[in-house]
Amino acid sequence: MPLKLGLIGYPINHSLSPWIHNEFMQRLGIEGEYLLYEVPEANLGTMINHIKEMKLNGFNVTVPYKQAIIPYLDFLDSDAEKIGAVNTVVNENGKWKGYNTDGQGYIRSVKMSFPDLFGASKKVLLLGAGGAARGIYRALTHEPFERIDIANRTGERARSLLDVKEDRVETSILSFQEAEQQLFNYDFIVQTTSVGMKPNVADQVISLENLKENTVVSDIIYQPILTSFLKNAQRQNGRTHLGHAMLLYQAQLAFQIWTGKTVPLDRTLSKLEQRLRGNE
Ligand code: ATR
Repeated sequence: MPLKLGLIGYPINHSLSPWIHNEFMQRLGIEGEYLLYEVPEANLGTMINHIKEMKLNGFNVTVPYKQAIIPYLDFLDSDAEKIGAVNTVVNENGKWKGYNTDGQGYIRSVKMSFPDLFGASKKVLLLGAGGAARGIYRALTHEPFERIDIANRTGERARSLLDVKEDRVETSILSFQEAEQQLFNYDFIVQTTSVGMKPNVADQVISLENLKENTVVSDIIYQPILTSFLKNAQRQNGRTHLGHAMLLYQAQLAFQIWTGKTVPLDRTLSKLEQRLRGNE
């Protein structure tokens, strides 16, 4: 039977997910389709019933439904439950189970490029405390870092992230100013705010003046593919990790949940980069 997949969200007409999952199906020689379900808020329940009747094998969920989808599901994976958001749903014999692959996908993408970064003496600074930061913070707390500090414009929102952490993990909440002053302490900086995203490409969330050489600086924004933040990190001799990798690795994990198969990403990663550069 051909695979039936899809994406639910609003608006999603510029989503890269159909392209990515069609690449995956082609790469593995799997027949199938990935459909877009663009639904305004009032019709979410009707659309989900429709998806269930259509017997999709699974679907992705994006903004603004990552939380709203939860009451419609039969089970949640433990990470999705802790994070309180779902981006991947699988049909398990007519029962619908929700996962969140954003954080784990992010970690996988960083490990591929910087395996040396994952060690008990390493210190991480997370910038931002929104939906994306929540999943990433949860996944970071499963890794053996010495500490993971959080800086966000709104301190209260940063504190709310502590709900998802493992007990052994050390985290301080910092202001952006404190983060800038103490930047040389960190080995890994993870930028998850929307600052610097198209069209405001010159904006940068904090100054990188005090960056330590060789620090890995990561930005989850992929439009533009090389943000001002990352350009500055390169000028300061930091090592950079680009946002499109997370997009692809979270999709790889979703595809694995739906099919049990792991797609190699070598070719798709460079094709996606070319595609994004072509749009700039
Ligand atoms: P996402 O799901 O993409 O993470 P979000 O939940 O809206 O989106 O979170 C956006 C993040 O970008 C938040 O950390 C937000 O900071 P606040 O919690 O203080 O709102 C951050 N952000 C957005 N615009 C910002 C700006 N101009 N300066 C600093 N931080 C900003």
